[in-house]
Amino acid sequence: MSGNNIYPVSPELAANSLLTNDQYLSEYKASIEDPEAFWGEKGKILDWIKPYTKVKNSSYAPGNVNIKWFEDGELNVSVNCIDRHLASKGDQVALLWEGDSPDQDAKITYQELYTQVCQFANALKELGIKKGDVVCLYMPMTPEAAVAMLACTRIGAVHSIVFGGFSPDAIAGRIIDSSSKLVITADEGRRGGRTVPLKANVDEALTRDGTDCVEHVIVFKNTGGDVNWIEGRDLDWTAVTQSQPTDCEPEAMNAEDPLFILYTSGSTGTPKGVLHTTGGYLVYAAMTFKYVFDYQEGDIYWCTADVGWITGHSYLVYGPLANGATTLLFEGVPNYPTPARMSEVVDKHQVTLLYTAPTAIRALMAKGDEAIQGTSRKSLRILGSVGEPINPEAWQWYYDKIGNKQCPIVDTWWQTETGGILITPLPGATDLKPGSATRPFFGVQPALVDNEGVILEGAIEGNLVMLDSWPGQMRTLYGNHDRFEQTYFSTFQNMYFTGDGARRDEDGYYWITGRVDDVLNVSGHRMGTAEIESALVSHPKIAEAAVVGVPHAIKGQGIYAYVTLNSGEYSSPELYAEVKQWVRKEIGAIATPDILHWAEGLPKTRSGKIMRRILRKIATGESDQLGDTSTLADPSVVDKLIKENQEIN
Ligand code: PRX
Repeated sequence: MSGNNIYPVSPELAANSLLTNDQYLSEYKASIEDPEAFWGEKGKILDWIKPYTKVKNSSYAPGNVNIKWFEDGELNVSVNCIDRHLASKGDQVALLWEGDSPDQDAKITYQELYTQVCQFANALKELGIKKGDVVCLYMPMTPEAAVAMLACTRIGAVHSIVFGGFSPDAIAGRIIDSSSKLVITADEGRRGGRTVPLKANVDEALTRDGTDCVEHVIVFKNTGGDVNWIEGRDLDWTAVTQSQPTDCEPEAMNAEDPLFILYTSGSTGTPKGVLHTTGGYLVYAAMTFKYVFDYQEGDIYWCTADVGWITGHSYLVYGPLANGATTLLFEGVPNYPTPARMSEVVDKHQVTLLYTAPTAIRALMAKGDEAIQGTSRKSLRILGSVGEPINPEAWQWYYDKIGNKQCPIVDTWWQTETGGILITPLPGATDLKPGSATRPFFGVQPALVDNEGVILEGAIEGNLVMLDSWPGQMRTLYGNHDRFEQTYFSTFQNMYFTGDGARRDEDGYYWITGRVDDVLNVSGHRMGTAEIESALVSHPKIAEAAVVGVPHAIKGQGIYAYVTLNSGEYSSPELYAEVKQWVRKEIGAIATPDILHWAEGLPKTRSGKIMRRILRKIATGESDQLGDTSTLADPSVVDKLIKENQEIN
């Protein structure tokens, strides 16, 4: 990574964008000097039922972490995303849908979206769902996913979306933790020419102990595939919706009422229920969408993320719709049926703003010009990247090939916890450096600290923290405020710890170096090593397991698992396949280990702690850099592992 390769903002771009560099600098300064005044003004990007008089009320103080924004205001998210656009944009397309198969698509106008959301909200009400109830969504990438989300917000229900690639056990864990009353799903999803058995997975999840909080399952008939049906519990989407009134009075929500829960992985334990609230989240999603993508009337915006991830919440649904944009929802994958699919979709729908992940870019780059064959991509204006560090080679390819050397790339750094983008270029303001997420968004105060929490100045590398709150910040972990404080505010006092490392260069640009904790980022999907280990050791033949990340050309990181079998068990190719399949079944396909390393023993300290640092070095073939191994209970284990690793590679 070098800081020398600079792509300056062209005068033409600066002239045609919402913000110039001077404007960015002065607004940023204002946002830090007086957050109250700044956000008090910017909060007007939304329509409020009852205007707020208080803006910011936050404390990162140990034992008293408390975050509130716009706390006496009232609003409704669906009104902001739909109703307020009806007068001027009723006939404009709100949701543009592109199916897995290139011959399937649909257009839903703001007026149509209004009707669908109101009808579905009325159906939810009839089932007894009310303000504060948690509704679990396990949906395919069809417009109904967005309709269900918005319908929840209309009546004040809290959605908890589970990514459609997760297993029945993962669904069950999230249903139990959030006490979901209702599950909304589809018969099957479609992805890359295959079907995904969504309803069957829900059925299985609901056989698990503790899931009897679920009273009903609403099933959208997507493929028409055969599914099991439990009378009384299961309800057909169309049947419960079609005769509902087409208006539904929106619930007035306090700015700090919960909006949604989204589970994400940490370095320890089970996934955590990140809770976002109504006002601050939507202000921040709307503001960042507008400025980061330089949204202008007439833009066609496409974010390839699944609704099951935070990107799908903030920048597929809420941010774009709050701005009255046309947002494209894609059921498929960027390289099906051919590597040119992504480019073809851009041309077909004349997409102007494209937001995708480095893993997708690398997969297409590996196909070379096949990925752009027969397409012009001339409609594109701005490209975005999210989810993991983008390596300069992938950046360059994205810029040269997909963007025809015409489109700035916004490399946006953020997290499930942050609700929206925190560090990012702004198209007309920021000179780009491939591989750098560049500078903070308004109101965001990043800092780098050493391992003792001392703030580091100048061009340097360190742990990335935030010194103060921004409106989109998560408020708590659902039902576990202690864990929230412990996870994010105890490592370094009075700061929010991101879990990421970063370098700052001489221009003040940030370069994210990746996680500094035991969290993996595989194809932009976040996973805890602890979760995968716990899935491995639940296999009857496995005694112990340790998982580390290794560099992977397409996925960014691959999963390397050291596995110790119970005594009397022997490794075999059959067991190798079985163990991989086991993890897939326990968590989901995204967690399948790339490499299993059968290990007789793992390097441990005398007190029995596994030394992951050593395992990481061995897995990446850097056994000459093991560092101090003198504290190991049995140093001979290491030599054996090194030898075995060489045999694997
Ligand atoms: O390590 C960072 C990486 O993704 C993590 C957050 O993952 P998740 O909560 O699943 O949200 C992903 C989508 C926002 C971060 O801690 N990450 C995200 N964006 C970038 C990134 N790493 C480098 N550059 C990025 N642009």
